Amino acid sequence: MDPVLAIYPGSFDPVTNGHLDLIERGAKIFGRLTVAILRNTEKEPLFSLAERTEMLREVTAPFANVDIDCFHGLLVDYARERKARVLLRGIRAVSDYEYELQMAMINRKLEPALETVFMLPAVEYSFLSSRLVREIARLGGSVNGLVPIAVERRLRAKVI
Ligand code: PNS
Repeated sequence: MDPVLAIYPGSFDPVTNGHLDLIERGAKIFGRLTVAILRNTEKEPLFSLAERTEMLREVTAPFANVDIDCFHGLLVDYARERKARVLLRGIRAVSDYEYELQMAMINRKLEPALETVFMLPAVEYSFLSSRLVREIARLGGSVNGLVPIAVERRLRAKVI
């Protein structure tokens, strides 16, 4: 059997230490892991798709079986095209569960062969989100320890 390809989808605006923690865990379990950035046409991101891709490439460089890609449209269509067997999502707290359950069930209805696998990030990242990171940076707070150094640098440059 071919090594299992898992897709870890998200906005990654920007990638946080919580995302990175999940990538590291996923890379240990699955043969290959593609971090797939949603090319969202509705909300205006802080970082462009190119910037988000660059940052993710940089911080995932140590993981030989991880690659970065982007997608638009339905996630299940992208996963089918890539011949992925798994969708990887992180659950931080109970509050994530309802939304994640809904998404997993819809995706299962659309593509029954695709399995959603949930993993838990390290407890120190269970409060962390890209949205909060953007807000802290925008208001001049420190995001040290919340995002990789390379992201911290870019955030500082972006909000000045
Ligand atoms: O980082 P996010 O915003 O939590 O990621 C959400 C994402 C990208 C996984 C989700 O919005 C998504 O899969 N969008 C693609 C459109 C789609 O397939 N929608 C139907 C499934 S809910």
